[in-house]
Amino acid sequence: MPATLSLNLIGAGRLGQTLAYLWRKQSLLKVNQLLTQSPTSATAAVEFIGSGNACHDINEMSAADLWLIATPDGSIPAVIETLRQSNLIKPGNIVFHCSGALSSEELQPLADIGARIASVHPIHSFASATSSVNDFSGSHCACEGDNAALAQLKPLFTSIGGQCFTIEQQNKSLYHAASVMACNYLVTLLEASRETFAIAGISEEQANQLMAPIVHQTADNLFNNSAADVLTGPIARGDVKTVQKQLDKLSEEDGELANLYRSLGVKTVAIARQQLSSQNQARLDQLKQIEALLNLSK
Ligand SMILES: NC(=O)c1ccc[n+]([C@@H]2O[C@H](COP(=O)([O-])OP(=O)(O)OC[C@H]3O[C@@H](n4cnc5c(N)ncnc54)[C@H](OP(=O)(O)O)[C@@H]3O)[C@@H](O)[C@H]2O)c1
Repeated sequence: MPATLSLNLIGAGRLGQTLAYLWRKQSLLKVNQLLTQSPTSATAAVEFIGSGNACHDINEMSAADLWLIATPDGSIPAVIETLRQSNLIKPGNIVFHCSGALSSEELQPLADIGARIASVHPIHSFASATSSVNDFSGSHCACEGDNAALAQLKPLFTSIGGQCFTIEQQNKSLYHAASVMACNYLVTLLEASRETFAIAGISEEQANQLMAPIVHQTADNLFNNSAADVLTGPIARGDVKTVQKQLDKLSEEDGELANLYRSLGVKTVAIARQQLSSQNQARLDQLKQIEALLNLSK
């Protein structure tokens, strides 16, 4: 069955191409036009999506039922202003973005001229459109905005395997900070671990072999238990000497790694405290000593 609703894209990089490809492939939407920064990328995106016309300027664009703004977050406000001035947005059109950091509130200038606005943030790492079209299905998508817009958008995302859930607009920044910690900071943490292994003379290949089982096992444990249930190691044991020794060594070798060890250590002490009853004064004292060590400036 041919798609009845049409989509225009402003920005067609990794996310824009993935979604447009999947919606086009299932005949859920007709991809009308897309605009990117450079003409060559617009033409390449049309080729990848398998439909649509590349535009080189917003003035070449014409009507569509849905508008996806899929530029980098920093460009979204300027695109919104350009769209507002363009007279392209008609009352009832749905305009949405997929940013995790921004809420649908950004789109208010377009709601003021009659658009239905929303944001849908897929918790998916769009490393490349080629891989994401194959593994998007199953991704959780945080939705917020106008009910009428979401009534159209949620089924579109669900049809390509998205698992939609609602997030309150005022909680969007915190929600995104949480996603950043789980995804981006996990990369940082594991890289810091690899760097520390390297200082200890362990090759990257071997470090990966050492890390993979404990990382998978710890994550699996954590998803089924509380942090206090799964925490092990020197801080959980109240081992002041070990923490002191590791901190001294790291401080000698790399101040940044030592600082990371300190700040995560302080949070780890808080989790270790949850493991103890108030009667366990000896262990509580050890945790206090560890906390004091970790809080000491270099
Ligand atoms: N990547 C992810 O993992 C991910 C995950 C969830 C949500 N998101 C969200 O998805 C959105 C897009 O991210 P992305 O990773 O797909 O970005 P991207 O791959 O860097 O692509 C950005 C696209 O926007 C175009 N563009 C940049 N400035 C523009 C402008 N002023 N006018 C028109 N087009 C412009 C670029 O064109 P050129 O190529 O010609 O420069 C490119 O087509 C962002 O809101 C991001 O927060 C991304």
